[in-house]
Amino acid sequence: MGLTIGISGIGQFGRHFVELFAAHPLVDRVYLADVIVDRARKEAANHAKVSEVYGSLDELCRSDCDAIALFTQRWTHADQAVQALRAGKHVYSAVPAAVTLDELDLLVRTVTETGLTYMLGETSYYRPQTTYCRRRFAAGDFGRFVYGEGQYHHDMAHFYTPYKFSGGDEWKRTASFPPMLYPTHSVCHVLGVTFSRMTHVSCFGFVDDHVDGIFDEHLSLWGNRFSNQTALFRTADGGSARINEFRRVGAGESRQTTIGTKAAFEEQAPGSAVWSWLEGYDAAYADASAIDWDGTRKSVTRQSQDLSNMLVYDGQVITDKNRGTLPDELVGRTHLGVSWVHDVARLPGEFVGLANGHCGSHQFLVQDFVEAITTDRLPPNNVWFAARLNAPGIVAHESSRRGAELLPIPDFGTPPPGAKLIDPLSSLRS
Ligand SMILES: NC(=O)c1ccc[n+]([C@@H]2O[C@H](COP(=O)([O-])OP(=O)(O)OC[C@H]3O[C@@H](n4cnc5c(N)ncnc54)[C@H](O)[C@@H]3O)[C@@H](O)[C@H]2O)c1
Repeated sequence: MGLTIGISGIGQFGRHFVELFAAHPLVDRVYLADVIVDRARKEAANHAKVSEVYGSLDELCRSDCDAIALFTQRWTHADQAVQALRAGKHVYSAVPAAVTLDELDLLVRTVTETGLTYMLGETSYYRPQTTYCRRRFAAGDFGRFVYGEGQYHHDMAHFYTPYKFSGGDEWKRTASFPPMLYPTHSVCHVLGVTFSRMTHVSCFGFVDDHVDGIFDEHLSLWGNRFSNQTALFRTADGGSARINEFRRVGAGESRQTTIGTKAAFEEQAPGSAVWSWLEGYDAAYADASAIDWDGTRKSVTRQSQDLSNMLVYDGQVITDKNRGTLPDELVGRTHLGVSWVHDVARLPGEFVGLANGHCGSHQFLVQDFVEAITTDRLPPNNVWFAARLNAPGIVAHESSRRGAELLPIPDFGTPPPGAKLIDPLSSLRS
């Protein structure tokens, strides 16, 4: 008997996941829930596997579904995840996992107590940039981690419609959501490579003065006046990282830089990615006494490789080389929306030709959640990693409220000993 997956929140994002959950070969039935029930009804009509529609998460929790995927508004997730776990359901949660440290603490404790699967739907984990750097970091190609940058720039003009969609007349109150309470995409650009932890932060806030009045602290549900926040972090492995969360900005989107002692990955302009390294490093540094200290260091030269083609999402045609266990009849068909970096052999054949999204991540998110439940292994974005992605932003926001005061970031621990991982590279370092 396959799984029954309930999806709560059939809004602008959640509806894109109905097709994928329904197509997964280990999922028998899909239930949908939304407080605006017509949204769920309308979507249900498009999918044969959707057999029930509910008007709230509460009703979904009372149903016989095995797991619940939350795609509700960003400040609601921790409470709802705890509610679903306590109802005996495995939980997938859209980002962020939580908006306070107390919520995070309760979430980690509830996952530990129930032993159920919890997965944060962090799309950045599967970005080609993060994926590529993760592999090379694990192989030792970066050397020791020195410095990382992650940024999520998304101008408020693009958020008017999404916030109005579910926010009604009061949409501006929640559109002021503090940028650093949405930190997981950009923090994942650093920790999704190193699996270390942010230990301290100092964060500056940009006081907004735009005429739209969204970041009016008297109107904001969070009393928030910052539209942009920049934080500098200390990392547990001795490095540092700069994270930008900008919502009033004339520059776009997600970018990542990872610098090690031996090599670097830099994404400084849209669509550009460069890998550079010190050729001859290992030989030159193997014996410190052999280094020539005249300042020339001729034995070490800087090399670089343009990797911009990995940011092209033309999909992968299935061949004998990348097919994994896919059947003969799928050879020649195309896995959509992925770049050459993605390991499509991990995906079920049923996903071939289906829509993907967010840099090829949607199909891997669904696969990892189902695989985690059915094989009793931890997904990469498990609750302990989710806490590492989320807590830094929560504390950073508090730092910016206190004029960039340096603050410690709590440690929410690591998975229980003996827990098995879907992605062996995702083991958390202390
Ligand atoms: N790259 C990414 O990871 C990414 C991208 C987009 C959105 N998101 C996340 O996805 C989530 C949803 O975003 P969205 O743009 O679709 O929002 P949305 O407002 O369009 O959709 C949310 C839906 O949840 C419903 N809802 C609220 N409370 C509910 C409840 N108790 N029970 C059932 N339904 C309920 C609302 O009626 C609405 O239809 C957000 O948390 C956002 O942060 C993540």
